[in-house]
Amino acid sequence: MKVLVIGAGNMGLTYAEGMAKSSMLNRKNLMIFDKSAEILTSLSSIDHFDVYDRIEDCLPEADVVFIAVKPYHCEGLFEEIKSHVNDQQIFVSLMAGITIKKIQDGLGVKKVVRSMPNLPAQVGKGVTSYTEAREVSRVELLMIRNLLDTTGESIKVKNENFIDASTGISGSGPAYVFYFMQSMLEAALKMGFSQHDSKILVSQTFEGAVELFNQSDLSPNTWMERVASKGGTTRAALDSMEDNNVKELIKDAAYAAFDRAVELGKEEA
Ligand SMILES: NC(=O)c1ccc[n+]([C@@H]2O[C@H](COP(=O)([O-])OP(=O)(O)OC[C@H]3O[C@@H](n4cnc5c(N)ncnc54)[C@H](OP(=O)(O)O)[C@@H]3O)[C@@H](O)[C@H]2O)c1
Repeated sequence: MKVLVIGAGNMGLTYAEGMAKSSMLNRKNLMIFDKSAEILTSLSSIDHFDVYDRIEDCLPEADVVFIAVKPYHCEGLFEEIKSHVNDQQIFVSLMAGITIKKIQDGLGVKKVVRSMPNLPAQVGKGVTSYTEAREVSRVELLMIRNLLDTTGESIKVKNENFIDASTGISGSGPAYVFYFMQSMLEAALKMGFSQHDSKILVSQTFEGAVELFNQSDLSPNTWMERVASKGGTTRAALDSMEDNNVKELIKDAAYAAFDRAVELGKEEA
């Protein structure tokens, strides 16, 4: 199997690196294409994939093609590459808001997988949701899943609505966590801790809580009750959050991202 990644930006490179580090592909079977001369020069010293600046030299060779350009570049890209595609190739889109139909129509192909990655893919801890056009076979989908899993974990979702929904949870989600972290950092600094100590207090707290959660079957609610005793300090913090409706506000934020993803899809249609 030969894989081509189109677009060597944040996400394209993350996936290329993930696939290169896995045992799934060797160097000769991983290609990357970008139109930016600056990016191509910066990649020229990397030896775990081949870098191309002419689509006709790489696309016809590929069995699987990852599309990792910004959504607003997709139409120009489709025009540029459509004469080099064939109907056996599988196209895996990482582009937010671009529908399977739009890719099928734009490229004149049928086998399309649409996915929604997230930023922790950069450190092998990403989660990618994906769904496929009906022309993609089970075996092909399993192969794509294995490629997606090289950057973390993946979940198959029922339809494209869930791709937009996962944008609201996992795609945009790292920013919600950073928002919470930033708030706690600011509180720690205000209490008089140094930058260094504030960072350790906050990052270990997040890491430790996630580890506890992952190593048990307990819900976050149960863990909260375990930390909070009646009349104690944690109860005072949780009561303050409840009084300020923080949980509802976070849910509203997730829905705002979900709604925006749907809206973007319509704008692009
Ligand atoms: N970053 C995230 O956290 C994240 C999360 C979920 C989904 N995504 C999706 O991932 C996709 C890529 O995002 P990104 O942040 O990696 O973007 P990016 O850093 O801008 O990378 C895209 C790369 O593709 C290149 N490019 C543009 N048009 C091209 C063309 N016609 N042929 C070849 N290369 C072309 C760009 O070159 P120029 O810079 O010269 O235009 C750039 O190097 C987006 O569609 C986004 O929706 C990203």
